Amino acid sequence: MDQTNAMPLDREGFREVVRHPTAHALVLGNYRLGEYAGVVALDRLLGEMRPEGKLHQAMSIHHKDEGRHSQVFTDWIVRLDRTPQPFPTNVEGFFANSPEEFAEQRRLVEQLPPDLRRIIVFAGINAIERLAYNQFDVHLSCLDRKEDRDMLQSVIDEEKFHLSYVENELERQMNEAEQRLASKQGGGARFLKEEVTAEDVAEIVSRWTGIPVAKMMEGERERLTL
Ligand SMILES: [Fe+2]
Ligand SMILES: [Fe+2]
Repeated sequence: MDQTNAMPLDREGFREVVRHPTAHALVLGNYRLGEYAGVVALDRLLGEMRPEGKLHQAMSIHHKDEGRHSQVFTDWIVRLDRTPQPFPTNVEGFFANSPEEFAEQRRLVEQLPPDLRRIIVFAGINAIERLAYNQFDVHLSCLDRKEDRDMLQSVIDEEKFHLSYVENELERQMNEAEQRLASKQGGGARFLKEEVTAEDVAEIVSRWTGIPVAKMMEGERERLTL
């Protein structure tokens, strides 16, 4: 089984969960919360980072998509005759071990030089998007009703777009950072390969998001690009 799945359940077991309305609504509630956290985080990033041109456009579409996804899962829970929970006020901190830890991680990231901070932010988004994509893919294969599959497929299609633009942007930033360092050192583009390894970045992202990115990267090497 793919080690990057957010919920390490076998498909048969997960199919049982999905057939049980209360359990299914709980799972959908987690997705809904994750999507909403994406809306809040992208709102903040769009304000803080002031990305331009195409990147701004892609991030704005992404922001709108996550709002729609959150609504898709809200409606789905209601259709299962369950009540969606109110959103927590500090939804980004909700996923950290504690609000203090989240504040401390944010502070650490904010102290980094802007180029490294940008890389880490996009590596974090990439990790979260990849988790969501993999999880939705498993979920899709466990749904009995065609209408449900079509609806989740429409979410997955938009997640594909998120992954592709975030991965492009991440690669572009890493290349730029390597070139900057190479020109400073007069040759030898070794920024992320020796001085700061991809594993170092993964370590920081994992501490920041609580997601085991290093583990995900192992699986990533065997994956085909979308
Ligand atoms: Fe989404
Ligand atoms: Fe997404």
